[in-house]
Amino acid sequence: MASVSLVLMLCLYLSQANREILVGGKQSAWQIPSSSNHTLNLWAERTRFKVGDVLVWKYDPKEESVLQVTKEGYDKCNTSSPIKEHKDGNTKVELEHSGPFYFISGSQGNCEKGEKLIVVVLSEDHWPKSPLLPLRPSNQAYGLRDGVLLALFMSLAAIFFNLLFI
Ligand SMILES: *[C@@H]1O[C@H](CO)[C@@H](O)[C@H](O)[C@H]1NC(C)=O
Ligand SMILES: *[C@@H]1O[C@H](CO)[C@@H](O)[C@H](O)[C@H]1NC(C)=O
Repeated sequence: MASVSLVLMLCLYLSQANREILVGGKQSAWQIPSSSNHTLNLWAERTRFKVGDVLVWKYDPKEESVLQVTKEGYDKCNTSSPIKEHKDGNTKVELEHSGPFYFISGSQGNCEKGEKLIVVVLSEDHWPKSPLLPLRPSNQAYGLRDGVLLALFMSLAAIFFNLLFI
């Protein structure tokens, strides 16, 4: 019984931890897109972001950086006065509020070639209330959450059977 409670507590902890989302879904995604069909904004449109999610960029800090900018900075690819500059190669940015976030590459000329990203965070009201609504299977960001829910369900089932047979 003790171990079941432990699993349950772990599940509760995990489900409250901030979800980390790798930008572009892979390590080397922060670069000039190979075609207009492979932009990060197309990836972002297929992904749901919510308040508290953490975006993660992996890149070579000698070649690249991540600038968080205003809409004007994004539209003009203006790298001169970012809201925040990240150049550690393993950048994490928490999405602290709903609404749009704008990011561009700090490398000279890369933003103009499409290395930029808009992430729109929906407010909680826009989230589906019913768990029966289908989630897109292609959305990898749901992986951890689904796993946690499954684990939670399993531990509840285990507790139920314990009560039944003791
Ligand atoms: C991009 O996608 C469109 C529509 O799906 C397709 O017609 C076009 O050939 C694609 N272009 C590239 C470079 O893959
Ligand atoms: C870029 O931003 C700086 C600071 O806001 C501004 O002075 C400059 O005129 C902008 N450059 C362009 C090309 O918009």
